[in-house]
Amino acid sequence: MAGTFRASRQWERISENWVTEDGADNLTDFKSDSRNYHLALWDPRRNGIRYLRALVYELATRLGPEDWQKIRNTKNREVGNPVEVRLDGTSVCLDYLQAALELGFIEKELDLRGGRVLEIGAGYGRLAHAMLSNYDLDSYCVIDLKNTLSLSRSYLREVLSEKQFAKMRFVQVDDVTASLDTAQFDLCVNIHSMTEMIPETVEEYLRLIDRTCTAFFVKNPVGKYIDPSLDGYYKGDEAVQEALASGPLRQQLDIHDSEAVQAAAPDFLDAYRPGTAWSPAAHGRGVPWSYFWQALYTKDSTRP
Ligand SMILES: C[S@@+](CC[C@H](N)C(=O)[O-])C[C@H]1O[C@@H](n2cnc3c(N)ncnc32)[C@H](O)[C@@H]1O
Repeated sequence: MAGTFRASRQWERISENWVTEDGADNLTDFKSDSRNYHLALWDPRRNGIRYLRALVYELATRLGPEDWQKIRNTKNREVGNPVEVRLDGTSVCLDYLQAALELGFIEKELDLRGGRVLEIGAGYGRLAHAMLSNYDLDSYCVIDLKNTLSLSRSYLREVLSEKQFAKMRFVQVDDVTASLDTAQFDLCVNIHSMTEMIPETVEEYLRLIDRTCTAFFVKNPVGKYIDPSLDGYYKGDEAVQEALASGPLRQQLDIHDSEAVQAAAPDFLDAYRPGTAWSPAAHGRGVPWSYFWQALYTKDSTRP
């Protein structure tokens, strides 16, 4: 009879290698080493995609009908083979899930219909894609570095309709002064991007926003962190030092401590305010990241 209840081959291997006979001798770190990682589902050293999909799935269950509509309105999201989950027949990845939340936050404060939008540092163009798919914008201008700009140009040409793509303008960083000095925009967007720039570059961009825009949506970290356990510093020590030196907010904090993040929010609101005539109409945590903050500033044009 005892044989009926014996370990499977799978568990024989686990018992031989990880949850071993002497595994109970020292409990000091057992919840964060191979013993627990073979008892729990969530070995964080190996399960990157599992975690990503678990996160996206959970976030997707919290979306409302208007968020889903924004996602469904954004066609061709499958281009580029994203890591997706599927809920009630609609597939979504973290990029477009965030885009839906970002648009929901912005549209509460700003009527985007007919808007002239400027995005600084657009990545491959996920927000441009989502915004042009959901609002009848006048135009969408992206400022970016040369290589990223060619990626977003090529991606957006593929996913947008001809009519939508005709509203796009792509400006390389070297051409900003010549191309945009007299331009006017109803909204500037910067997501997870100024935090990776030289502080003087951020100051210059904020001056540009002050001169040319009347609203500014920003979503960036409230500070920096030192925690090799998060990713093993896989990009190397130099990359860590570079990241610590970039962006306007370089104070270090425990990014998984809600009180520390909340305490850093006032500095965030000061650091990203484009000028004295600007004030935040709304702000809050930049979901899903514990340490991102987001704000929508508007300019009072009657003030200097
Ligand atoms: C981490 S990515 C974020 C992309 C996108 N905003 C998103 O949330 O998916 C940072 C972006 O900032 C751009 N970037 C970095 N330095 C820049 C600079 N000096 N001027 C304009 N864009 C810059 C990068 O090329 C990239 O598009």
